[in-house]
Amino acid sequence: MTRSVFLIGPGFIGGEVLDYLLQENYKVTTLIRRQSAVADYAKLGVETVIGSLDDDTIRKQVVVSDIVFHTATADHLPSVQAVLEGIRERDSKGLETIYIHTSGASLLADTAAGNYKSNVIFDDENPAQIDALPDSAPHRLIDLAIVRARKELANSKMAIMIPPVIYGISSREKRTSIQLPTIARYSLKHGYAGQIGKGLAIWNQVHVKDLARGYMTLLHWLETTSTSEVVPNPYFFCENGEELSWGECSHEIGRILKEIGRLDNAEPKTIPPENYGDIFADYTETVAGSNSRNRASRLRKLGWKPSEKNTFASLAEDEIPAIVKETGEFSGYAKPVAS
Ligand SMILES: NC(=O)c1ccc[n+]([C@@H]2O[C@H](COP(=O)([O-])OP(=O)(O)OC[C@H]3O[C@@H](n4cnc5c(N)ncnc54)[C@H](OP(=O)(O)O)[C@@H]3O)[C@@H](O)[C@H]2O)c1
Repeated sequence: MTRSVFLIGPGFIGGEVLDYLLQENYKVTTLIRRQSAVADYAKLGVETVIGSLDDDTIRKQVVVSDIVFHTATADHLPSVQAVLEGIRERDSKGLETIYIHTSGASLLADTAAGNYKSNVIFDDENPAQIDALPDSAPHRLIDLAIVRARKELANSKMAIMIPPVIYGISSREKRTSIQLPTIARYSLKHGYAGQIGKGLAIWNQVHVKDLARGYMTLLHWLETTSTSEVVPNPYFFCENGEELSWGECSHEIGRILKEIGRLDNAEPKTIPPENYGDIFADYTETVAGSNSRNRASRLRKLGWKPSEKNTFASLAEDEIPAIVKETGEFSGYAKPVAS
């Protein structure tokens, strides 16, 4: 039986997930906010609903969907509440729903501000470690809405994907990610490879295609596993085994930009706080200077394996060649939290 999917946020992450869903013949409807995109999705065989994260479109579409992916943002509570309301309606009719939400590994971020490497490593086989995070951690209030609802809704299976630094360029729309591209754009604008503090803090990495395959592995597990087995642990990490410090990333960005004649020096320099507005504003130290270390033990046990090129190859071959062609004034990544 063809199962219907509602994809909220067909962007960098969601666009890659969409391609895998289509390859596997799911019937996909996606939320878009621009009428001009309808025809492009129709050509792919994707139905569209036009709306925003803040109107009733989400609840209505969830009510008629077997599977929901939210890949629009990790920081928008009303859209998550609308998904949960839709699931509640389905649940009361005895209909099963799968919901995969996207959080982000700044959930685990510390206050290192680039000044040290942490030994704290989160493992997704240990949900108590994640549940012990403060409610004030990035994304946590949104995640908590799902964490709480999953126990009440007997017919639903909910999971939270928590991606680390995502790199790569998306296949169809050629979108770039957030953290490393923003540092590269800052570096081009200010004439040096920027880093936060000493650049010592580290994060895990994943290529967007490996991540999208991770979402599919998770979906298939949810499809074939009973609710009672799903409920105890909603968390999934997805990392490729490589951990990089922010300083190493900035150094590589500097090296590539120097090699192509866009910087005189590859050596990273500390970004002064007065320039944070040109990077991630108030979230700069969290998004580009914290430690966030985790292990995707669960996906690995389900057979998922990363197979794409690594971060530095991707920066040199894909992201930076695209970023240096961009035009227009860059003034930081404007959306909240972002990772
Ligand atoms: N990229 C990363 O490195 C990373 C890492 C960890 C977590 N995350 C989380 O994942 C989220 C998505 O990341 P991404 O890189 O895929 O972002 P993206 O490329 O900007 O994609 C976001 C998608 O959601 C849609 N969207 C956003 N706000 C909307 C609204 N108000 N109404 C309707 N549609 C809306 C966008 O529509 P348009 O096409 O119209 O803009 C786009 O399709 C991030 O916001 C972050 O919270 C990202």
